[in-house]
Amino acid sequence: MKQIVNVALPKGRLGKKVYQMFEAAGFECPELLSESRKLIFENEEKCIRYFWVKPSDVAIYVERGAADVGVCGKDILLESEPDVYELLDLDCGKCRMMVAAPEKWRDDPARTLRVATKFPKIARRYYEGKSRDIDIIKLNGSIEIAPILGLSDVIVDIVETGNTLRANHLETKEEIVDISARFIACKSAYKFKTEEIQEIVQKLSEEIK
Ligand code: PRP
Repeated sequence: MKQIVNVALPKGRLGKKVYQMFEAAGFECPELLSESRKLIFENEEKCIRYFWVKPSDVAIYVERGAADVGVCGKDILLESEPDVYELLDLDCGKCRMMVAAPEKWRDDPARTLRVATKFPKIARRYYEGKSRDIDIIKLNGSIEIAPILGLSDVIVDIVETGNTLRANHLETKEEIVDISARFIACKSAYKFKTEEIQEIVQKLSEEIK
């Protein structure tokens, strides 16, 4: 008998887009887009149950098996390195992890570089690869104001349209890595629901433009 698959979706704009891919792939659950405060939705007939969770929490739900599968950004996978299978690049939610700084800023390699970021591991790994001494300043948001206020020299952050950088007179200096949304699976769930999860991967991959 077909088993129900539990899917953790990232709340917000990306999540809605991703759900539309699931819907087009034949795993619809129309109630999900209703404006209610409900967070769990199920379509018994399609053997699918969705949860809306905070984007940065998707990997935790999947790694611990509270969700069988989920969708999260490659940035989160690179930062938290969860023990999950990464099964598919959904080719949406595309952006880039960049180093950015004030337009007039020039690097002085003799000095320790102060880096403000939400992604300390990604930043550390990047600068280790360049053998550059850095001081990480971990922030939780509005990273762009750190160099303006003299809290840091540069930032390591996600750039999508570049609007936030432009509005704050910052510019990109170096690219670290391309980011997009990934379909991930819990390792033990994959063992017990291989067919169901493979069917989702197959049908979703047909929806990738
Ligand atoms: C993200 C990121 C940038 C912005 C980039 O922030 O940290 O600030 O989006 O997008 P853009 O290039 O299209 O302007 P988010 O909206 O997640 O808010 P945050 O300040 O809480 O990190």
